[in-house]
Amino acid sequence: MTAKIIDGNALSTEVRGQLAERAAALTSVGITPCLAVILVGEDPASAVYVRNKVAACEKAGMISLRDVYAADVEPALVFARIAELNADPSVHGILVQLPLPKHFDSEAILESISPEKDVDGFHAENVGALMQGNPRFIPCTPYGVMKMLESAKVPLKGAEVVIVGRSNIVGKPMAMLLLAQSCTVTICHSQSRDLAFHTRRADILVAAVGRAKMITGDMIKPGATVIDVGINRTAEGKLCGDVDFETAKEVAGVITPVPGGVGPMTITMLLANTLEAAERSLK
Ligand code: GUN
Repeated sequence: MTAKIIDGNALSTEVRGQLAERAAALTSVGITPCLAVILVGEDPASAVYVRNKVAACEKAGMISLRDVYAADVEPALVFARIAELNADPSVHGILVQLPLPKHFDSEAILESISPEKDVDGFHAENVGALMQGNPRFIPCTPYGVMKMLESAKVPLKGAEVVIVGRSNIVGKPMAMLLLAQSCTVTICHSQSRDLAFHTRRADILVAAVGRAKMITGDMIKPGATVIDVGINRTAEGKLCGDVDFETAKEVAGVITPVPGGVGPMTITMLLANTLEAAERSLK
């Protein structure tokens, strides 16, 4: 039996339609949601992500500002721009695309963004709020995954969840969100012994490591839900996830594809967070 596929493009289209209606309602009372995106350097993948984020904003009736800096820019210039955006009431969300060049203190940059405008949810104050079960902004990729699980009606209470990857952007916030839904959560990483022992126990398996096709069908429990957060390229230059889709789809009950799975949902939830920030500015 082959798995049911969660179509991230279709779900994104549906959610973005709802967000565009809310954005139009805000615009009609004189507030157009505005996201400022900062990109430093020439990393081609980051440039594509930023372009997609800006285009999605505009399509949903939101304003986007884009600042692009050379890889060797003085960090002080970027800090100054963030301070300006923090103080500008017409800007509701600020995002600095990661990774930053090595001469940047990434943590200091993220901490310099106003927590009220931190639509990525990466500021320490917002990370703390999420850990306490009272999030201000939910990081976009895990937020998108939660929407996908909800849309596929995957039961969460008491489910065994295994997350492969412990990043601040995906693995750790993902664990907090699923814990809040009463899942039993295990986080695996590069030093975990016998990864397959863990993954085979999972009712819900989230792969977020950035290694092409490392999760194969034999590592999956029959009928499990498999969420693939990876975006990698094969030797032939084709996009692929962290999951070997061909073998995994024969074992899993529900699966997300790459491309067309979690990726579009990440951008959708960035729009949702920006809209939410703009709506809060009315209160
Ligand atoms: N780089 C990879 N993923 C992300 C993300 O979700 N936000 C930002 N700002 N940078 C990233």
